[in-house]
Amino acid sequence: MSIERIDKLLALSGFGSRKDVRKLLHTGTVTVDGAVVTAADFHVNTEKSQVIVDGEELAFQKHVYLMMNKPAGVVSSTKDGVHKTVFDLLETEFAHRTLGGDLHLIGRLDIDTEGLLLLTTDGNLTHRLTSPKHNIAKTYFVRLRDSLSDEEKAEYTEKFKNSLEVPREHNEEAFTAKSAELVWQSSPNECLLTIYEGKYHQVKRMFKVLGNEVVYLKRVKEGTIELDPNLQPGEARELTPAEKAALNIQ
Ligand code: URA
Repeated sequence: MSIERIDKLLALSGFGSRKDVRKLLHTGTVTVDGAVVTAADFHVNTEKSQVIVDGEELAFQKHVYLMMNKPAGVVSSTKDGVHKTVFDLLETEFAHRTLGGDLHLIGRLDIDTEGLLLLTTDGNLTHRLTSPKHNIAKTYFVRLRDSLSDEEKAEYTEKFKNSLEVPREHNEEAFTAKSAELVWQSSPNECLLTIYEGKYHQVKRMFKVLGNEVVYLKRVKEGTIELDPNLQPGEARELTPAEKAALNIQ
């Protein structure tokens, strides 16, 4: 990972597309170990060399950590013959291979589910957030087909708290859901559900057990990371230093 082209490094460091970066190089403001570099294919040792752009030293980031506000109608996979994928939505700056490896998804959302999707090149973080052993909390905003009375809400809350049995669906095994928390919202058919695992169609299947149906689903939180309300559907941004610190990433 230590030898990279200067145009790739600058693009990954936020200086725009490869074309923007070539223009930047032609201005003569980029130096590597004190010498001006104008060639886009100049190779840099990212572990040893000092790259300065317009007087400021670049700190190379090994891994990329992104949050996306996934819109409905887009699939959480790298390729799909029919639908757009979340990778099609990413700006090229994020989309190509980064220094630390391939950019991949931390978990998935169904095609019709919206909201928080994390992407990274850091396989260790992916393991920490997706391993069932770690019980990472995921919170979803849920709108149900049928409105509920206060009594019914209490019944749902109790059932979700106490290991709900979810039957087999298609080829997916039946499972006993870990204790989950429901917080009812002001509308009689809206709630926040927090679960601690990520089985196939889990939220939809849990409500189906109680004879209801999820008509809108949006993930709003995963572990310590909350969906940024300023992120429009389809937009992605890097995690902030505070968000990374909360995930124990240096
Ligand atoms: N549960 C679901 O049913 N769908 C999702 O996309 C996420 C959780």
